[in-house]
Amino acid sequence: MRARLEETGYLVDDGLAVACFLALRLHRPIFCEGDAGVGKTALASALAEALGAPLIRLQCHEGIDASQALYDWDFPRQLLHLRAAEAAGVKDAERLESELYDRRFLVARPLLKALETQPSVLLVDEVDRADDEFEAFLLELLSEFSVTIPELGTLRAGTPPVVVLTSNRTREVHDALKRRCLYHWFDHPGFARELAIVRRRLPGVSARLAEQVTALVQELRSQDLLKPPGVAETIDWAQALDALGVDEVDAELAVATLGSVLKYREDAERARGLDLAAVLAGRGA
Ligand SMILES: Nc1ncnc2c1ncn2[C@@H]1O[C@H](COP(=O)(O)OP(=O)(O)OP(=O)(O)O)[C@@H](O)[C@H]1O
Ligand SMILES: [Mg+2]
Repeated sequence: MRARLEETGYLVDDGLAVACFLALRLHRPIFCEGDAGVGKTALASALAEALGAPLIRLQCHEGIDASQALYDWDFPRQLLHLRAAEAAGVKDAERLESELYDRRFLVARPLLKALETQPSVLLVDEVDRADDEFEAFLLELLSEFSVTIPELGTLRAGTPPVVVLTSNRTREVHDALKRRCLYHWFDHPGFARELAIVRRRLPGVSARLAEQVTALVQELRSQDLLKPPGVAETIDWAQALDALGVDEVDAELAVATLGSVLKYREDAERARGLDLAAVLAGRGA
């Protein structure tokens, strides 16, 4: 599992490799929780690539409902069909109705698409942003991997999709939903693994620069920041410095490019007060 994910450029530790392996073996969704930018969403893409299956993504948001997540009827097309039938003099109301609720007028949203596509990886991203009602609906769907459309009947996935749920923990997701899943908490990676990720994602960036940026980010994370930087920010920062044409960074340049990595004024101010030169010196200057 680890090797297959690493082939896609996604580096996992033992805990996550085991969780992924079990998710596939037991056909259980994997529930990924952790800070922003630690690789929760990227795991789903990596799994899809490793399995050679399409990634089907459902982005959750406040007020999301079944018609956005599961299916909807294509009303304008149904209307057109009705007009055309009327113009052709079709009078049989029953026949017309059954035609209107034909599969071709059904718009499959991500959840239905995932049930119909085999194999597939279904990413239910940021489930903490949806409301309780939607969570209950999701729970039902993930228990049965089937859906009943009143006009068409029940559709069941032969092979259930591989499901990855993510949450930033802006609120607690219900235990009932979590119970269906294998849970994995995403910590920020340690220095060695984060450096490996940066090197892997940005092969063109100098080894020295990658190492320095990783050391700086690790130091920033140890501060009590409003928003600790994720791996995404480490990659962004290294990329930004590389774009400036440097192979290594000093404290002055680090401060000048802090906007790549810290997104709160208070955090940036705090970073400016740190002895970044010492952090850089500590890392094999
Ligand atoms: N273990 C990893 N291996 C390789 N790349 C990683 C890893 N973890 C994170 N990344 C990189 O970090 C970036 C951010 O990851 P991702 O968007 O998946 O974070 P997230 O946890 O979903 O964040 P958010 O909560 O903000 O959505 C991705 O572009 C990915 O390339
Ligand atoms: Mg994400």
